[in-house]
Amino acid sequence: MKSDRFNLLSFAEFKRSGKKISMVTCYDSTFAKIVEASPIDCILVGDSVAMTVHGYSDTLNATPEMMALHVAAVRRGAPRKFVVADLPFLAHRGGRSRTMNAVAKIMRAGANAVKIEGVDGAEDIIAHIVQSGVPVMGHLGLTPQSVNVFGGFKVQGKTTSQAEMIKAQALKLEKCGVFSIVLECVPSEVASAITSASGVPTIGIGAGSDCDGQVLVIQDLLGLTTDFKPKFVRHFANGASDVATALQKYDNETKVGSFPTLAESFGSDKA
Ligand code: KIV
Repeated sequence: MKSDRFNLLSFAEFKRSGKKISMVTCYDSTFAKIVEASPIDCILVGDSVAMTVHGYSDTLNATPEMMALHVAAVRRGAPRKFVVADLPFLAHRGGRSRTMNAVAKIMRAGANAVKIEGVDGAEDIIAHIVQSGVPVMGHLGLTPQSVNVFGGFKVQGKTTSQAEMIKAQALKLEKCGVFSIVLECVPSEVASAITSASGVPTIGIGAGSDCDGQVLVIQDLLGLTTDFKPKFVRHFANGASDVATALQKYDNETKVGSFPTLAESFGSDKA
């Protein structure tokens, strides 16, 4: 029986038919409910949660436990969406049994797949996860877990040799059995060449319009983050100013006594 719901097979179908994949990050149940009711194809519970929700300056403080907690919250809010969750910093670099415990935690919390940054030196473990029945999404280019190697959040693949390296990594990932690859902050031409060469769909973030799909951090696309706006982010709403206006109104109406009204208050039972 064919399911209309976007699922693992839809990634390949969308690439075959040229239909773009939309993905958004989500970390809690409130936003998950809104995404559930939207046409967005799939959700990423990114380790960016460490930054967006927990206030760290990078993703290194995300742990399998933190990821599982947020996956479970998202799953409760969005029971029908395809949910991918990040395997956080070093979770797949500490031996097979530690890796598989982390994967199990995240999958049992409600994810449909895990995302793994990088590939070099991790080919065997990625193939093992796939062969264990867990779909894996790759992630190349600016892989934030390696921010200390890159010397900051910088565009990757600008030189010919770097571009060739990322392309070779994409082909390696495909051999490991990944179903899709996120390309983050790479020049559009590089992402375009990888997308053409790749048998699995690419999902871009700061990687131009030729990728097979796009992913954005939900706080960024809603305009909730205003301290820094990367070049590749578009604010599809003015979230921060709308929230600020609402808070100002609430504060004012509380202080002048126009909130709450009778209709917003409870009466007692009449004897
Ligand atoms: O953690 C995350 O949000 C991500 C996206 C930026 C792709 O990995």
